[in-house]
Amino acid sequence: MRQPLIAGNWKMHGTRDSCRALASAIAGDLGTLQEAEVAIFPPYPSLPEAADAIRGTGIALGAQDLHPEAEGAFTGAVSGSLLRSFDCRYVLAGHSERRRLFGETDDAVKRKISRALASDLKPVLCVGESSEQREAGDGEEIVHKQVRIALAGMDSSVATRLVLAYEPVWAIGSGRPATPEVAAEMHALIRDDLRKFFGMTEGSEIRILYGGSVTPENAGGLLGQEEIDGLLVGGASLDAASFSAIARAAVGAYS
Ligand code: 13P
Repeated sequence: MRQPLIAGNWKMHGTRDSCRALASAIAGDLGTLQEAEVAIFPPYPSLPEAADAIRGTGIALGAQDLHPEAEGAFTGAVSGSLLRSFDCRYVLAGHSERRRLFGETDDAVKRKISRALASDLKPVLCVGESSEQREAGDGEEIVHKQVRIALAGMDSSVATRLVLAYEPVWAIGSGRPATPEVAAEMHALIRDDLRKFFGMTEGSEIRILYGGSVTPENAGGLLGQEEIDGLLVGGASLDAASFSAIARAAVGAYS
């Protein structure tokens, strides 16, 4: 049984005060939730205060990115070990905004996943096709390729620490989420890949999240699909009431 994970990616939003207030409100609303795991991914400088706000609750902290190297002269970048020392448990790798706007390659994503694991972080590998790729009939191949390159050669012993997130680029921030059926189709393909890579048991344990225009209204339908094990929420995670409603939809869908 995979425990659902509801994750809020705050992207480049907020100020010190608003991030602290958001983390505190989420801690108040969801801090004792048992049925689903909740994680928040604030911008880097807000990590320490977010960590303070959620301390003692069941909510986990994550970062939005890390550098593939352990440390060194990489101005502006942040290391996995630094994130771990600020109580991060998760880190995103390969978010489509990083791939598209910052030129992150599949190979760089692979190295980031290895670094995250070596830093005692749980990587959330984000994959997803663009609308042009989907329209050209290449969506599945693109997602296969992103999964294949990122996980090639990885030992099945790390499988339980991995999380996947299917985030179709066309659904992110567009107000046009994938339907539960469209998302479920891609999740099933990813699940097959994971079983091929890691074996039936380990490949079945990895959680696959859906992300892209998730709201309190559509969360329940998405989570009702067998292979959708949680949600990676952008815009709706910036409002504590919306994010809490999404997390509670997970409780409803899995009870
Ligand atoms: P939205 O929920 O704003 O579409 O963003 C999704 C996302 O990119 C989460 O990582």
